[in-house]
Amino acid sequence: MSLIRLEHLTKIFDGKNKVEALNDVSLEIEEGDIYGIIGYSGAGKSTLVRMINALEVPTSGKVFVEDQCLGDLSDKELRTTRKKIGMIFQQFNLLNSKTIYNNVAIPLKLNGVGKADIDKRVDELLTFVGLADRKNAYPDQLSGGQKQRVGIARALANNPSILLCDEATSALDPKTTESILDLLKEINEKLNVTIIVITHEMNVIRHICNKVAVMDYGKVVENGSVIDVFTNPQTKIAREFVGNLIHDEVPAPLVPGIRAMTENYKILRIKMKNTEHTEPLLWELNTKFEVKTNLLYCTISIIEGIVIGIMLVLFAGTDDEIRKCEEYILKCGEQYEEVEL
Ligand SMILES: Nc1ncnc2c1ncn2[C@@H]1O[C@H](COP(=O)(O)OP(=O)(O)O)[C@@H](O)[C@H]1O
Ligand SMILES: [Mg+2]
Repeated sequence: MSLIRLEHLTKIFDGKNKVEALNDVSLEIEEGDIYGIIGYSGAGKSTLVRMINALEVPTSGKVFVEDQCLGDLSDKELRTTRKKIGMIFQQFNLLNSKTIYNNVAIPLKLNGVGKADIDKRVDELLTFVGLADRKNAYPDQLSGGQKQRVGIARALANNPSILLCDEATSALDPKTTESILDLLKEINEKLNVTIIVITHEMNVIRHICNKVAVMDYGKVVENGSVIDVFTNPQTKIAREFVGNLIHDEVPAPLVPGIRAMTENYKILRIKMKNTEHTEPLLWELNTKFEVKTNLLYCTISIIEGIVIGIMLVLFAGTDDEIRKCEEYILKCGEQYEEVEL
């Protein structure tokens, strides 16, 4: 059963200019997922995620959380459901006039928790995010990464089962981003929180997500497991996002020399999961068949603990021998595609 189900969501903002922010979006998010939603600015990501906690109401379509359709809930039921959903933001949205303690305490106070229990819970939360010693500080006295940790503590206050992260690391430097992403992963694993991560950076997706949806102009144009989308992007925009991280084109300076070759050749992009085969594969191809291989480019990336290798290899030889190489690559369980210069 999916924890969150979005069915044919459409959102039209009917202001001065009519904007179709979402156009027939359907998605299913399973319990335990860290689900990434990636797209350029204006793609509709924030609008989409805000529908999951009913900050935004769809023009048409339905949002289900734990099989309950949000549109069918009474105000009281909706408040109960919302408590299960925490949210963090790019700009942290902390109250600067309140201490860290008081910022984290807000949702607890709203929930009618007593003073002693609030004290205990805030301590617990600040310890979990590594800020126990800063509870009397004010947001302005903290770094960006620390502010986001406070945002996370506040979002977790009522023990949500879902955490929505809207560009939560976009204002942070790469190292701080990594530490926040590691914390989100810990929240997912230790506290069993299903997480939805909105971002425009593929690196964020690669670091923590198991699934990803690519959005463009209000539509989900591609979605699936992160490994599939990384190794086999189907749309131009997904290829762009992946390409920012995994370069897999023939390096430009090599192109003139290759074009000037007089020998018969073919360039293959060989995609491998796990790299144990890398060296033997090339060696085997060289020794078994009458080809000369030339490694033009190689890149290795670790996604969900799996090593993904992409090699661009030029095969010089007869068409027949090159075809045998192609068959051998498939026989080894790897994939390839021909690269046209
Ligand atoms: N409250 C609003 N009123 C009018 N237009 C909006 C509103 N919120 C978002 N939009 C528009 O909807 C589109 C999608 O916005 P948004 O969901 O914020 O995209 P993203 O988060 O991917 O950058 C944009 O064109 C944006 O200007
Ligand atoms: Mg946004």
